[in-house]
Amino acid sequence: MSSTNGSSLCRLGLIVTLGGAIFLIVMFSSFSPSNNCPPPLPRPAQNNCVKSKSSIADAVEDKPVLLLWTWPENYRFDLSVCQTLYKIDKCQLMDDRSLYSDADAVMVYHRGISWDLSNLPPSPRPPFQRWIWLHLESPTNTKKIPGLENLFNLTLSYRQDADIPVRMHLTPRKKPEEFVVPKKDKLVCWIVSNNDPSTGVSARNVFYREFSKYIEVHMYGRAYSSFLDYNEYYPTMASCKFYLSFENSIHKDYITEKINGPLAAGTVPVVLGPPRKNYENFVPGNAFIHVNDFPDAKSLAEYLLQLDKDDEAYGKFFTWRKHLTPTPHLILQNQEFVLAICTACDYIARHREYKEAHDIYEWYFN
Ligand SMILES: *[C@@H]1O[C@H](CO)[C@@H](O)[C@H](O)[C@H]1NC(C)=O
Repeated sequence: MSSTNGSSLCRLGLIVTLGGAIFLIVMFSSFSPSNNCPPPLPRPAQNNCVKSKSSIADAVEDKPVLLLWTWPENYRFDLSVCQTLYKIDKCQLMDDRSLYSDADAVMVYHRGISWDLSNLPPSPRPPFQRWIWLHLESPTNTKKIPGLENLFNLTLSYRQDADIPVRMHLTPRKKPEEFVVPKKDKLVCWIVSNNDPSTGVSARNVFYREFSKYIEVHMYGRAYSSFLDYNEYYPTMASCKFYLSFENSIHKDYITEKINGPLAAGTVPVVLGPPRKNYENFVPGNAFIHVNDFPDAKSLAEYLLQLDKDDEAYGKFFTWRKHLTPTPHLILQNQEFVLAICTACDYIARHREYKEAHDIYEWYFN
C-alpha cells in the first residue's frame, strides 16, 4: 500500500476549508432542488425553482469531468467524498463510462491494465481529453506492462516530480500550541500487513530480525495473528513510544502513510526507507529517528532504551508539533485511493495545459 497529496491540496484545504464550507452550505441550502423546491404546484414559485435548477446545472457543466475508468482494486467509495472530506469540488468525479466522450480527464489505474491493453479506454479519444496514469506503488512493485508509451498526459504518483504528486501534509498552525504527548504503555510497535517477500520486504525483515534481539517489539497486523480493527489503529499507535515506519522497498520519495500514522498519533517514527535528507523534504528532521543514523540495529535499540528512561530527551521529538499539525490519513481499505483521486480532481480543475507523458517507465524506473 502506498501513499498519499500535493502541496496544492494542502493549500487548497486551508483556503477552502472555511470559505468553501460556508459556500457549500449556502449553495446547497439555496439550490438543492430536492430539499428546497416547493411541491410541484402550477404557480410562479415553481418557475423560479426550475430556473435556479438550470442555473446550477450550467455551473456544474463548467467543472471538468474526471472519469474513473476503473475503480482501483475495486475499492469503491462515494463519489462526493472529495467534497465532504477535502472540500474539493471543482471537478465532477464520475464512474459512468457512457460519459467517456465528454470526459475532460480519464483516470487509468496502472495495476488494473490488462497485459494485452484490451481494457484501456477506446481510441480515438476526444482531442481535449487527458489520460492520467495512476500508480502509487514503488518501482520494486511495478509491473512493466508493455505498450504504455504515448498514451498518457499526466502522471499521478507519490513522487514529487509526478505531474500530480500525492502526499499527506503537515499543516502550519495559526498559533503555536503546546502538544501533550499521549500516554504510553509500550516501547516499540509495528503493524505489518504485507510480508510477501516478492514485494521487496527482505531489507526491513533482515533489519527487524537483528533489532528485535535487543528490544521488544509489539507486532500487529495481517501478517501476524493480531489483526487490528481500523478503529484501533490510531489509539494503538499512540500507546507506543516508537513506531517502526519501515517501507517495503527503498526509493526516492517513497515515504508513505507508514510515517504519517505515528506522526498523527503522537508517536516517534523510526524510519527505514530513502535517506534522511529525502525525509526532511517532507517531515521536520527532529520528528523522527532514521535507522541509518546508527551503525547497526543494536545501537539503535540501545538508543531507544536510553530514551525510554529520559522523558525530556523523548519529548524533544515533539517540539515540531507546536507549529505543525499532521493530518491523519484515511485507513479503511476502500479509502486507499481517495486522496490520490481527489488530488487529481483538484489538479485538472486548476491546470489545463497541454501535456504528454511519452515514456512513463523511462521516468519511473530511471
Ligand atoms: C495527451 O497525450 C497524448 C499522447 O501522449 C497526445 O496524443 C494528446 O494530444 C494529449 N492530449 C492532451 C489534451 O494533452
